[in-house]
Amino acid sequence: MKQYNVCVVGIGAVGTEMVRLLKKRNFPVKSMTILARSEREEVIDGIPYPVKVAAPDAFNGMDFAFFAGTEGAKGASQTLGWEAVKRGCIVIDNGDDFRMDPRVPLVIPEINPEAMQAHQGFIANPNCSTIIALMPLASLHKAAKLRRLVASTYQAVSGTGSAAVRELEAQAKAWAANQPLANEVYPHQIAFNVLPCVGSFKDDSGESTEEIKMRKETHKILGDNAIRVATTCVRVPVFNGHSIAIHAEFEKNLSPEQARSLLAQTAGVKLLDEPKKNVYPMPIQASGNYDVLVGRIRKDQSTDNGLIVWCSGDNIWKGAAQNAIQIAEVIVERHYFLKK
Ligand SMILES: NC(=O)c1ccc[n+]([C@@H]2O[C@H](COP(=O)([O-])OP(=O)(O)OC[C@H]3O[C@@H](n4cnc5c(N)ncnc54)[C@H](OP(=O)(O)O)[C@@H]3O)[C@@H](O)[C@H]2O)c1
Repeated sequence: MKQYNVCVVGIGAVGTEMVRLLKKRNFPVKSMTILARSEREEVIDGIPYPVKVAAPDAFNGMDFAFFAGTEGAKGASQTLGWEAVKRGCIVIDNGDDFRMDPRVPLVIPEINPEAMQAHQGFIANPNCSTIIALMPLASLHKAAKLRRLVASTYQAVSGTGSAAVRELEAQAKAWAANQPLANEVYPHQIAFNVLPCVGSFKDDSGESTEEIKMRKETHKILGDNAIRVATTCVRVPVFNGHSIAIHAEFEKNLSPEQARSLLAQTAGVKLLDEPKKNVYPMPIQASGNYDVLVGRIRKDQSTDNGLIVWCSGDNIWKGAAQNAIQIAEVIVERHYFLKK
């Protein structure tokens, strides 16, 4: 089997899992290069990896570059993403910088792999909450046509990055020791609290950036701008694994039984729906699981053709690193390479 020169840009929460998952999923890696802002050594599962400073020349000879750097003007994707493409490398980007760019396919491999057929070397990974919500919703949409989606998220601190994981841990320890709780990453204490803000509030709409991403990305991935989407994104004191309460209205009626049977056959989704036996998805189970867990499926009594679904998924795996690697796996399987 052909092997590929692979590079991971950014070695925080997502980059670290990227390195682990490339190995765990037996991606055909010929060489692995790690790039970040500073040169150093990073030890992952006892193995030392040299980290080099990210610069355009580092992409010469690379086949795939998985970008897991911070977003924005100074971030890796904006400064180096297209530079890497110019050097013949396929870029798979975890950040938000180019998700809505018409040149860039936004891909969940189980849902819209064909969006990559005519890619221009740059492919975007959707937002973690969008991926976790659409994994069960896409097959229900295919069967009954989604008209309206109302969702509330319960998002883990790992979604903010490794500094936020350390902050929750430090606050929990300080609370147990009856010490004052310091906060730097979040504007308020996150331990034993919930924050109705994921991302930031950039415009006057009252929506957070995460809520805007969920709407726009749902439209792009499902290819249907008519779906009405309203979300409330909430940060909760969970280390890893996002959960989402989904209220979905469809054009056609879909019973909970029909939805269960569709979801039982959906790749990448695992049904856990026996609430009387306390069997339902939880972030602790979703963490370290390739599948998005789905349960609590019931009729929405407040509307016709409505279903309520609860799901949990690993935001760093399926919501980021795993989805990015699955994109590369599809490119390899289907030979979606650029002509060099
Ligand atoms: N965490 C999640 O659940 C999640 C889910 C979906 C998508 N994402 C996205 O994935 C990306 C990474 O998130 P994260 O949570 O892993 O962040 P993180 O833990 O804060 O790590 C960020 C990494 O990016 C590197 N970096 C930043 N700017 C860079 C630049 N200009 N050039 C090269 N490297 C740069 C940093 O390098 P140094 O270590 O040298 O400082 C660091 O290693 C973000 O775009 C995020 O929005 C995250």
